[in-house]
Amino acid sequence: MPRVFSGIQPTGELHLGNLLGAVRNWVDDQHRADSFYCVVDLHALTVPKAPGEVAARTLELAQVLIACGLDPEVCTLFVQSHVRAHTELAWMLQCIASVGELRRMTQFKDKSARNEFVSAGLLTYPVLQAADILLYDTDEVPVGDDQRQHLELTRDVAERFNARYGDTFVVPRATIPRAGARVMDLQLPGDKMSKSAASDTGTVYLTEDLSAVAKKFKRAVTDSDGEVRYDPAAKPGVSNLLSILGAATGRDPEEVAGAYTQYGPLKADTAEAVVELLRPIQARVGELRADPGATTALLARGAAKAESVAEDVLARATSAIGLLPRA
Ligand code: TYM
Repeated sequence: MPRVFSGIQPTGELHLGNLLGAVRNWVDDQHRADSFYCVVDLHALTVPKAPGEVAARTLELAQVLIACGLDPEVCTLFVQSHVRAHTELAWMLQCIASVGELRRMTQFKDKSARNEFVSAGLLTYPVLQAADILLYDTDEVPVGDDQRQHLELTRDVAERFNARYGDTFVVPRATIPRAGARVMDLQLPGDKMSKSAASDTGTVYLTEDLSAVAKKFKRAVTDSDGEVRYDPAAKPGVSNLLSILGAATGRDPEEVAGAYTQYGPLKADTAEAVVELLRPIQARVGELRADPGATTALLARGAAKAESVAEDVLARATSAIGLLPRA
């Protein structure tokens, strides 16, 4: 069975891009692979947070992930800070990665340009991500398109470590879905849908009121030529709707385009497909919120399972480097 690992940050609420680009595929992968899914709370600290904020968001994110269909009896669901090996391996890998390659990461360039205070963690963030992945002898990493560059760095770091210290890490590969890998903002279809957008009118949150979701689709930006065609460069708004409807109904966007001649029905059907996708998730989140202790207990079991794998791989890396063992 292949080993799958992926992670998601507890910053802001989960949105449709996270669901279609990543989480939905995690739900499928858990049944065919030995899967580890991690709420990466330490990654959230790269941008300053109020005391207590991360804990609350971590619990909430875990509940939403379970509501989306991750089954902690089938996969391993855990919180990054509960497994100490992540930060320890991250340090070793920081000594393998170069400042030059980290500075070239486009997410670092974007985020450092937007923030006045740029933490050192924002620069080394992709190395922590590499540690997350390499600690589990991961074969496949299901992510959206925006993580492609971080996955390339992970592979480079693993290969460099293996070349320097001998074969230690499995070199993983990204698995990026055919539909939904890059869900765009409904108002600014040139930008990816994101929790940090300036306005929420273009972002669909998984737990938002379903009538508000439908309204966001009704108001989605299209264009004025009136032709339904999948062409992301020339027609970003319409193509985004086609991708979303395709991802929600298991079809290619081109195939979806063939079924429409007007924007109105395309918007209405996309809204309906998304609302039907979100309805059962929202019902389940409501149940899970009523008993937070049940989720924290599942996360504790997940951390114990994760730790037993991660400790072995960390020991392998420590011995490959050759640090004096404690007698
Ligand atoms: P994060 O928390 O920003 O996003 C989680 C997942 O959602 C995908 N995603 C999208 N997919 C399609 N369209 C969008 N608009 C969209 N926005 C987000 C992301 O590609 C991602 O798969 N660095 C990672 C977290 C991380 C990680 C890891 C991932 C830390 N360690 C190890 C994989 C393996 C991040 O910030 O994802």
